[in-house]
Amino acid sequence: MEVVILPGKEEAGILAADAVEALLRATPDAVLGLATGSSPLPIYDELARRHREQGLSFAGASGFALDEYVGLPPGHPESYREVIRREFTDRVDIDPARVHAPDGTAADIPAACAEYESRIDRAGGVDLQILGLGSDGHLGFNEPGSSLASRTRIKTLTERTRQDNARFFDSAAEVPQHVVTQGLGTIMEARHLLLIVTGEHKADAVHAAVEGPLTARCPGSLLQWHSHVTVLIDEPAAARLELADYYRHTWANKPDWQGL
Ligand code: GLP
Repeated sequence: MEVVILPGKEEAGILAADAVEALLRATPDAVLGLATGSSPLPIYDELARRHREQGLSFAGASGFALDEYVGLPPGHPESYREVIRREFTDRVDIDPARVHAPDGTAADIPAACAEYESRIDRAGGVDLQILGLGSDGHLGFNEPGSSLASRTRIKTLTERTRQDNARFFDSAAEVPQHVVTQGLGTIMEARHLLLIVTGEHKADAVHAAVEGPLTARCPGSLLQWHSHVTVLIDEPAAARLELADYYRHTWANKPDWQGL
């Protein structure tokens, strides 16, 4: 796991965009794993800028969203399908037909989840998965206690997550109770995991995920078991890291030839 402590979220967005750009230049038909929440927004802003100003093309790429609310009507502005469309798909040249999200409106949720898994498989798996981290340590919507081997399925949100996400809705009561999320086992199959976390309110979760025990109590800690993880955090989010000086030293002395 590579932990990079940066001055702010803009710098994290730029570094993450560098990784996406390097992937696309090497593999134009790359499969991108797309996250929502506020953390990845600087990445999408930077990718949209590079597309606009530098011609970075996503024409051959495809994308898979991590998760989705259950029960929001199609087109609801806070459904993750809409968020991904607004923040990413509409701002670059990716083919919208190749950007997928779990179906939170399906009559048969388990069948829709199985279909989502096989769609990821048929695309050849995710090359680079963008991730955020919940304040309770969740990845995607895999709340504490999620099976470390889980696949795409329905989950019930914790009250904490519903409170955290209330800012996107008119009130906490409007945040759905249920969601569909890629499982931790699904996420772990992506070839490169890129976690972006900013803000002091995430410092405990970052500490637990990066330096705590590997446990379903903190789903983010499963990242320790993946062979290619990049953790991009700002100074406030790094506040509780015990090995922060080592991570800074490692980054400052990284060989030039080594990408993210
Ligand atoms: C949300 C999403 C996650 C996201 C996390 C953090 O509920 N399901 O994918 O990483 O919570 O969100 P934010 O980045 O807004 O703090």
